[in-house]
Amino acid sequence: MEANPTSFASQILSWYHQHGRKTLPWQHNRTPYRVWLSEVMLQQTQVATVIPYFERFTERFPTLTDLANADIDEVLHLWTGLGYYARGRNLHKCAQVIRDQHNGEFPTDIDTVMSLPGIGRSTAGAILSLSLNQPHAILDGNVKRVLARHNTIDGWYGVKAVENKLWQVAIANSPSTEIQPYNQAMMDMGAMICTRTKPKCDRCPVAASCQARLTHRIADFPGKKPKKDKPAKRGMLLVLLHDNQIYLEKRPPSGIWGGLWCMPQFDNDTALERYLANLPLAAEPEPLAAFRHTFSHYHLDIEPMVALLTHKPNRVAEQQGDWYALGEQHSIGLAAATEKILAQL
Ligand code: ADE
Repeated sequence: MEANPTSFASQILSWYHQHGRKTLPWQHNRTPYRVWLSEVMLQQTQVATVIPYFERFTERFPTLTDLANADIDEVLHLWTGLGYYARGRNLHKCAQVIRDQHNGEFPTDIDTVMSLPGIGRSTAGAILSLSLNQPHAILDGNVKRVLARHNTIDGWYGVKAVENKLWQVAIANSPSTEIQPYNQAMMDMGAMICTRTKPKCDRCPVAASCQARLTHRIADFPGKKPKKDKPAKRGMLLVLLHDNQIYLEKRPPSGIWGGLWCMPQFDNDTALERYLANLPLAAEPEPLAAFRHTFSHYHLDIEPMVALLTHKPNRVAEQQGDWYALGEQHSIGLAAATEKILAQL
């Protein structure tokens, strides 16, 4: 893209020259080795945490071959506190692959870099652009957020089509020169301006063309991962009636509807049948309209059953239970589902 002063890239670059980060330890003596080390450390960890680790690592392992020749235990020891130990193990393995297959020279071809352990397309692009100013786009979490908002790219980036669209925009926006400061600027923009919550749009260099801001939809981007479907359970609730009174039980304090009053509940027909066998039924139980009640972790498909009794049994169950006249006010806590069923009677 031409460095037209009104283009996205030019605005990002001017912002970077004024406000971007230029003194991070991996920003001086920029070699692919040092940038790779910093990028792997930064994958799931914040800049402030990474800095002392980066300094200890580069002091102990000044070259890639020093790292490759080190004992894995020492590498993991220096990694302690950064978390995600697979990253530390991949780092060591990657150094050995480069030592053994690339004469200890960090490869400079993007496809070769992407084939190394623990290095994806965005990290490969970051290493080669930040250290050698090679024109590769990047798309880490920060950049995804900036681009999804600026271009209102809907959907979760875990979906391939959404990720492809983000890459397309990332490539289209990238300048043909100054890719190193531009890529650093995009990461800084995501970390400092276009933050996940409370983005600082008043300080954003591309706010005027940000589609999410212009359409008041900032919170919709980036699209969220769809929630896993909740499992559905069956809950048969037995309405026992005699003489216009209903039998309710106080639920145990923990679990759903803890401490509230509800009809006896069964998970399946067998349990219900077994319970009914001991009751003086006046007629076969009849189903009422079923409905779904959703809890935080599952759906309960409620099937109410009504059974008329010839008389009140002495003791219905172990639970604390009582009979309540229908249509009267009672000062007991009723579960929402209980109220809904009572309304059907
Ligand atoms: N996160 C990932 N890479 C980064 C970099 N080079 N600077 C700041 N934050 C980053």
